[in-house]
Amino acid sequence: MLVLDGKIASAAIKEKLQQEVALIVEKKQRIPHLAAILIGNNGASETYVASKVKNCEEVGIESSLIRFESDVDQTTLLNKIEELNTDANIDGILVQLPLPGHINEQKVIEAIHPTKDVDGFHPISAGKLVQGMQTFIPATPYGIMLMLEHYNIQPKGKHAVVIGRSNIVGRPMSILLSSNTKYGNATVTICHSHTPNLAEICLQADILVAALGKPGFVKANMVKDGAIVIDVGITRVEDNTAKKGFRIKGDVAYDEVAPKAAAITPVPGGVGLMTIAGLLKNTLQAYQQHQ
Ligand code: GUN
Repeated sequence: MLVLDGKIASAAIKEKLQQEVALIVEKKQRIPHLAAILIGNNGASETYVASKVKNCEEVGIESSLIRFESDVDQTTLLNKIEELNTDANIDGILVQLPLPGHINEQKVIEAIHPTKDVDGFHPISAGKLVQGMQTFIPATPYGIMLMLEHYNIQPKGKHAVVIGRSNIVGRPMSILLSSNTKYGNATVTICHSHTPNLAEICLQADILVAALGKPGFVKANMVKDGAIVIDVGITRVEDNTAKKGFRIKGDVAYDEVAPKAAAITPVPGGVGLMTIAGLLKNTLQAYQQHQ
């Protein structure tokens, strides 16, 4: 069984990005710049955004963290996005999700100019992905594709089962795995909360991607011997014995599934780190397109 190590794979990608940014610095050109908007103080969102900012710094990308209180009105937020859209110094804009209930998430996503949409959530980016055009791929599915590439796992001809159909992970993941590209060409089944025989379908998967957000959902009896298991879950589960009072749990019951798998991503230390690598690559891509 091979552990698909997000630390190793993301470090390799970050090193390349760092070299690219160093070249930009050497030429005394404008530095790539990511703007991250964080609303409120949701603990998980705080951690993710802090990690995004830190990783930008590590590869030499500039970043601005823009914070709003959780009761910020939608117009203020949309005005800030518009300001960033027209700021020639900003290459990428992301608004950390989820948003407070009084804000229309779709409106916010659509307010980000598609040329700065490094999360790839804008309908124009999503539409381009469906049509196999060059675009910003949402960071998590992008990171998973980079992980497959790093370990040279080619899905061609395999049956990939994706559990979850979110716009952020499941749906774009299914598009990428079925795309006519080097790390695509799989036959893809998407499962979701209305799939009656989910365990049976998962058992047929050569590649199983769990992105439903239910800790420990995928059990050994749902996994075929020799399957490649990609765990996208990152749920905080209360644990008083842990330093912070919680532990991060994946969607896969790792201890029982790992012995059956040919390869598996751990949580933490798997897909989460690749997501950051995907975002950094998108930011540099946005920069290059702005030059
Ligand atoms: N919330 C959970 N995942 C993501 C992500 O990839 N980007 C943003 N902006 N918010 C998220």
